This record gives sequence, C-alpha cells and structure tokens, in this order.
Amino acid sequence: MASLLFLLFLLSTLSSPILSSSLDSLIVDSSLSVENTEDVLASPGGVFSAGFFPVGDNAYIFSIWFTETHCSNNCTVVWTANRDRPVNGKNSKLSLLKSGNLVLSDGGRLVAWSTGAVSRCTAKLSLLDNGNLVLYCKEGLVVWQSFDFPTDTLLPGQPLSKDEHLVSSRSHANYSSGFYKFYFDTDNILRLLYDGPEASSIYWPELYLLSWEAGRFAYNRTRVAVLDSLGNFSSSDGFTFTAADYGTRVQRRLKLDVDGNLRLYSRADRGKKWIVSWQVMSEPCRIHGICGPNSVCSYVASSGRRCNCLPGFKIKDLSDWSMGCDPEFNLSCAAAEVRFLKLKNVEFYGYDYGFYPNYTLEMCENLCLHLCNCKGFQFKFIKHNYPSNIPYCYPKMALLNGHHFPQFEGDIYVKVPKSGIFSNITVDKLDCSSQIVEQLYRSYPKSHENGSLRFILWFSCAFGIVEFFVIFLVWFCLIRTRQNSGMQGYSPITTQFRRFTLSELEKVTRGFGEEIGRGAGGIVYKGILPDRRVAAIKRLNVANQGEAEFQAEVSTIGKLNHMNLIDLWGYCAEGKHRLLVYEYMEHGSLAENLTSNAVDFEKRFNIAVGAAKGLAYLHEECLEFYIPQNILLDGNYQPKVSDFGLSQPLKIGSRHLNPRFSRIRGTRGYMAPEWISNQSITSKVDVYSYGMVLLGMATGKCPAEETQDKMMVPWMREKFNSENATDSWMEKIVDPRLEGKFDKRKMEVLIGVALECVKLDKDERPIMSQVVELLLQHEKYPECVS
Ligand SMILES: *[C@@H]1O[C@H](CO)[C@@H](O)[C@H](O)[C@H]1NC(C)=O
Ligand SMILES: *[C@@H]1O[C@H](CO)[C@@H](O)[C@H](O)[C@H]1NC(C)=O
Ligand SMILES: *[C@@H]1O[C@H](CO)[C@@H](O)[C@H](O)[C@H]1NC(C)=O
Ligand SMILES: *[C@@H]1O[C@H](CO)[C@@H](O)[C@H](O)[C@H]1NC(C)=O
Ligand SMILES: *[C@@H]1O[C@H](CO)[C@@H](O)[C@H](O)[C@H]1NC(C)=O
Ligand SMILES: *[C@@H]1O[C@H](CO)[C@@H](O)[C@H](O)[C@H]1NC(C)=O
Ligand SMILES: *[C@@H]1O[C@H](CO)[C@@H](O)[C@H](O)[C@H]1NC(C)=O
Repeated sequence: MASLLFLLFLLSTLSSPILSSSLDSLIVDSSLSVENTEDVLASPGGVFSAGFFPVGDNAYIFSIWFTETHCSNNCTVVWTANRDRPVNGKNSKLSLLKSGNLVLSDGGRLVAWSTGAVSRCTAKLSLLDNGNLVLYCKEGLVVWQSFDFPTDTLLPGQPLSKDEHLVSSRSHANYSSGFYKFYFDTDNILRLLYDGPEASSIYWPELYLLSWEAGRFAYNRTRVAVLDSLGNFSSSDGFTFTAADYGTRVQRRLKLDVDGNLRLYSRADRGKKWIVSWQVMSEPCRIHGICGPNSVCSYVASSGRRCNCLPGFKIKDLSDWSMGCDPEFNLSCAAAEVRFLKLKNVEFYGYDYGFYPNYTLEMCENLCLHLCNCKGFQFKFIKHNYPSNIPYCYPKMALLNGHHFPQFEGDIYVKVPKSGIFSNITVDKLDCSSQIVEQLYRSYPKSHENGSLRFILWFSCAFGIVEFFVIFLVWFCLIRTRQNSGMQGYSPITTQFRRFTLSELEKVTRGFGEEIGRGAGGIVYKGILPDRRVAAIKRLNVANQGEAEFQAEVSTIGKLNHMNLIDLWGYCAEGKHRLLVYEYMEHGSLAENLTSNAVDFEKRFNIAVGAAKGLAYLHEECLEFYIPQNILLDGNYQPKVSDFGLSQPLKIGSRHLNPRFSRIRGTRGYMAPEWISNQSITSKVDVYSYGMVLLGMATGKCPAEETQDKMMVPWMREKFNSENATDSWMEKIVDPRLEGKFDKRKMEVLIGVALECVKLDKDERPIMSQVVELLLQHEKYPECVS
C-alpha cells in the first residue's frame, strides 16, 4: 500500500511541470505547495531560496533564506510573508493567480496572506540574487517586491524607507512579530523602539540626546537608509556606520535581533560562519524591555546578560524573561506599613513622576511614601556646575528597564511592605523543562461540504510541534546550565566549533613540530586541520581546571563572534591535556609588527579602532571582563584580540584571581595601578592596558620597557593639554620608524584617547565603547579646511 502511494506520488511529481526541483520562477496559474519539499524558488546564482519554512511540526511560513547545503529548519531566514500567521502543513499553497495576485492559502481554503497587487499584464514571480522576490509583468515592470516589505532583516541594496520598518522576531524559535522596531520616526530620525505589551519607549538614539547631539539631521524628509554591498550603511538623517570588514565583498545582512540589538552580520560564503561586523548597542542592558518589569539586567562573566527579579518579586513566565516579575506581596497605601529596600548601582529608566533636584534621601522617601502608586525611587548624584554634586530624586510609577552597572552612581529604593522579609536580589533561573511546547492553534470555519478535510487538519495538528522546539530547548538548556559536553553547536553561529582528540591534534601539528609562539600560559603550534584550514594550536601549561569546567568555559568563548576577536574553532581536553584550536593569524602579534617596519600609521590607527571594538564587545556584550594579553594581526592587518579568558588564568571575580599574578605576568608596564593597590578590579584595567598599547603604537616604544621613563605620560599630558604647545612636541615622541608619515589629526586623536585610558583614577577612564566612539569622532566631524 505504502509503495503504491509512493509510486503515485512519484508519478504525480514527474507529470507536473511545476513540481520539478528548484524552480527559477513561478508563472501565472501555478503554485508552490507546502507538501512538496522540492517546491522551492532559487535565485539564478543560487544565493537565495524561497519556499515554505517549518516553524513547528505543522506550521509553515513562506520565507526567503540564504541557500545552504544542509539546512532544513535552521536556515538564515531573511524575509517572511506570513510571520504572524503560519499555515498548515497540508494543502497550503502559494499561488500566482490570473489576476496577478500572489496568494498564500492556508489549508487550501483560507487566505493567510496576499500581495493584493493586481496587474493587467501576465505576471511572473522570480527570486533575484540580491534576495529580492519580485513579481514582474512580462514587460519587466515590477508589480510587487519583497524588498518593500521587510520583516526583521535588510539586505545590501534594500532601502529602508518612510513607511517601512524592521520588527524583531518574538524569540529564536518563534518567528512571529516581536517587541522591537527599527524605523523612521515622524521627525525624520531613524530610531529603535521597544513596543512591549504594557510599555513602549525609544532606546536609540538615547532620548536625553537632542537629535543633533546624537549626530542626526532632523530636516531631511527623504527618510531612506540603505546598506551597500561593501558594508557602508547610510541614512538620510546623517546616521552612518561601516562594517568592521568594510570593503570586502562578502554576504551581509542587517538584522534587528530578538534581543532588540541591531546587528550587521557578514560571512565569506555559503556554509561559512556568520560573524557580527557591527552592532548598534554595545551595552545590551541599555536595550529597553529586555528583562521586563520589576527585574534588573546585569552582565555576568561567563554567561553574558542576565535578568534577576527585584527582592520580593517572582518571575512571571518561566520561559520568557521579557514578561518580567510580579510582586509576591500586596502594598498598602499607608505610609506606616511600607519601607524601602536599597539596591546599589541600579538604574531604572523612565516612568518618573517627575524629577526633584536637591532632595535629600529623607525628602525623597517621604515623597514616595505619600504617593500611593509610587513603586520606589531612583536616588542619584549628578555632577553639575554647582559647587558640589547635588542629589536628585526620581519617584517611579513603574519599575522598568532595570539595569545594574557598577559605574552607575545611583541607587534604586524599592517600596515593600514593612512586615515582609526580603533577601536581596533573587536569581531566578529560566526553567527549561517548563517551556511547554505549544501546538499551532488554528480555527477553521465550519464547513458542510468538507468534513474530511477538517479531520485531516485536526489530525495533523494533533502531532504537536516537535523537532524545531526540541532543538531550541536543547540549545537553550545547554547555554543556561553550561553542562554541555558534546558541543556540536546548535546555535547556527557555532557550527564549526568542535572537540578534538589529542591524537587528532598531534597529527594536525605533525607531532607539535612547528612552534610559532609562546603566549600566556602555553606554547602555540601551527597546524593544518583536515579541512585545510590553518590553525594555531595552543597547548596550555597547566590543567588547573576540571574537564567539565574547562568545557563550559571553552564553549562560552566559542560562542563569541566578533570581527576583532580571535576565533576559537575547538578544543581538546584529555586527561591532563588542555588544548585550544584558534584560527591562524598570518602576521603574528602587534608587538612584532611594530618593531619591524611593517605597519604604517594608517594601519596602526585601524588596528587601534579594531582592537577597541573587540574589547568593547568583550566587555559589554558578553562577558564582564577578561584581561586580554595580546593583539594579533591577520593577513589584512585586521587586529584580533586574543588570549582572553581561558588561556589567561586570571579571570577576575572568579576563583582564578590570584595574588601571584604579578609574578606570572611579565608585562607590568601595561598593568593598571589598581592591580598593585587595593582598589577593586573592574573592566577598567583593560582600558588602561589598551591605553598603554596605544601609546606603544604612537611612540613605537614598548611601555613595558619604559619603567625608567615614568615621566613620559605626565609630560605628554601636559603638552597635549597646553594650548600654546607647538606641534614639535609630537614629533619628539612619535615613532621615528614612521618617518614623519602620519596624519597629525589622527595622531592627536590616538594620543588623546591613550592619555584618557591611562588615567590613574579608574573612574576617569572611558569605557571601551566610548573609546571606539572617541577614535572615530574625527570621521563624524571632519576638520574645516580654511
Ligand atoms: C509565538 O509568539 C506569538 C506572539 O507572542 C504567540 O501568539 C504564539 O503562540 C507563539 N508561537 C509559538 C509556537 O509559541
Ligand atoms: C558611505 O556612503 C555614504 C553615502 O553614499 C557616503 O557619503 C560615505 O562617504 C560612504 N562611506 C564610506 C566609508 O565609503
Ligand atoms: C536627504 O537625504 C538624501 C538621501 O540620503 C540625499 O540624497 C539628499 O541630498 C538629502 N537632502 C538634504 C537636503 O540633505
Ligand atoms: C493580595 O490581595 C489579593 C486580593 O486582594 C489576594 O487574593 C492575594 O492573596 C493577596 N496576596 C498576598 C501575597 O497577600
Ligand atoms: C540644596 O539644599 C540645601 C538645603 O536644603 C541648600 O542649602 C543648598 O543651597 C541647595 N543647593 C542648591 C544647589 O540648590
Ligand atoms: C545580600 O544579602 C546578604 C545576606 O543575605 C548580605 O550579606 C549582603 O550584604 C546583601 N547584599 C546587598 C547588596 O545588600
Ligand atoms: C543545521 O543543522 C544541521 C543538523 O541539524 C547541521 O548539519 C547544519 O550544519 C546546520 N546548518 C546551519 C546553517 O547551521
């Protein structure tokens, strides 16, 4: 019976011209069917495919994705017709009608989506190699195109204009419309908006900045922004950025991600890994709504961003942090029955009753006590022109956009009942087991003539959504619990990350024959992987970590993706052996290149910017902080920060912090003064080291050797700040190897930033994302030539 059916199926496939494999276009009166996996439109060069994409066991969306050799349900989707209305896996079709209307029918009868475009001419649907799905007239007239209706992704050459916007997906597994929006506002400014179920607010550009302060131009009504294929994004409001790999011809996509961050991804070719080559928010906790009401966003070393409920509050939806936390108490309006809990260095943004300058803590408490709906208040000191800082009081009607960051000089006071006992911040873990797999609910109107269809639909619905969710859950739990062992990488960006055996690596390095360097904590060998990739394999000296712990850390680092961070391809943990497999960096370390004459000033400046971007990503996107040791250069002299985390057994805030460290590290000159004094260690130590590296690049001297020349920095600072200094001071200190060939203005920027970074008071140093901005400042405000 089954074989007969199969035969029938085969016959029908052969006899129907529309159902042959990978079509190049769809003509009038034909359709693509959800049941036939071959019903996929391919672009002429094979870059993109369009077809039905599964989002559950019996739920499909009609989408465009990057063609991949193997991707059934984890393809990189760039456009979706019916994201909020998935169609049934039976009888659903995309049909091009005689009228020229393109219609997506659900279960054969209901219209889930249509272009609504009607053309008198004979239409044809084609997918182009730039990812645009176009409905043409025979005469070449465009009747409709997917580029005019973006979902969450912009492709190179696809303009974002007046009435278009990007809307993020709801979650990694749920492609329906989420809460974040990228659009042109009515004042012509390109913005990012959090549009949640209960609240909405703009988080980029920062609302407290006037448009011109944010570098925007509010008077151009054109309202169009476009990314070009080289990686240059420019908008009519003056906002521009270029990708870290600007200029290279690679595949690119600009996506408004699930977490509200806008990221530009690029990759060399099909099957390669996507890397982040630009992102708008370097501090993801500043994205509104990320943790929902009554919770606090913070960064933790090793697992990245985390949400915590406020004391006395409980997570609302165990599978979804964006729903936030609910109070476990009822608040009375009587002032005598409530008190305040203080949380240090926590900011809650917005939803103020107003702001009250020069209010003492007591006055602020009283104010909130007597406002029945006041949920708490923000209390902070703002630096002013006044003789001293004065305190500001902000009573809150809701506690949203909570964000903990150590640099923030302010506290939040949360109103709680006097009687309750509240511990400080509670850490609720997302409970993966409670992520109930939902079935696609679809109500079809009653039909008299077609009871059997209904039965089939219900029958197929009944087999819930399985595979996709299982994969997502597994991936999610792996990240959350860090108990991963196999690490085949379920996240699409870590597909190439894997575990090697010792004998494999022995073979790869020809018995650890070619030593290419000795870095922090180990010797590095060159090797060629079976897939011909050249790798740098670092053999760590000590196995001071258990295997599970090592694996957990390695997998965290393996998940980092940034142009300017070295790529970790895999690892080996056997017995006492711990090895890391990195990409090979052709030009070796920055220090080596400075001593040879290989890098001119232009290259040095780019290296400074790249390294700053890599560090900013490390600091603010993923991990609290690590101490990077080394900047390596690839074949194009692109810098990549390496030796962070693992290979450097000095991670702060963990058991690795170890008083012997100054002995371990030979590069004292780069070390921030906090290390030697008793001050707390923050990510600002990296900023200091980075500043020293910049000074090294400008002067050509290794600061580590400069211990006898301690006066150098103060001297430079004095010259830099004095108004009547002549230009010649710069020539005195600049690396003679540059032979005077450098852009004075850029050199000034470089030295200025370096001096900011090496300030002795860590609070006066900028954070890395500010460093990036400072370095690029001169591009935004070109000097007037008189
Ligand atoms: C996806 O998200 C939407 C909107 O929140 C929700 O209605 C829908 O049930 C979700 N789908 C699945 C399969 O969870
Ligand atoms: C990016 O494009 C804009 C507009 O076309 C142009 O003004 C700008 O110079 C370009 N930037 C680069 C780095 O090419
Ligand atoms: C407005 O923006 C468009 C596109 O970026 C540009 O071509 C045009 O010159 C701008 N107009 C003004 C007045 O700046
Ligand atoms: C809060 O009040 C509601 C009804 O007023 C009650 O059902 C609930 O149990 C109370 N919660 C607590 C924690 O007392
Ligand atoms: C702040 O208030 C105190 C008294 O409450 C007053 O002496 C002081 O001048 C005020 N400062 C400013 C800057 O208004
Ligand atoms: C958190 O609670 C612990 C004990 O419950 C206490 O020792 C600690 O100081 C509290 N931390 C803060 C920031 O209040
Ligand atoms: C998709 O998943 C399959 C295995 O499920 C894997 O082989 C493939 O490499 C993945 N593709 C991408 C693009 O992640």
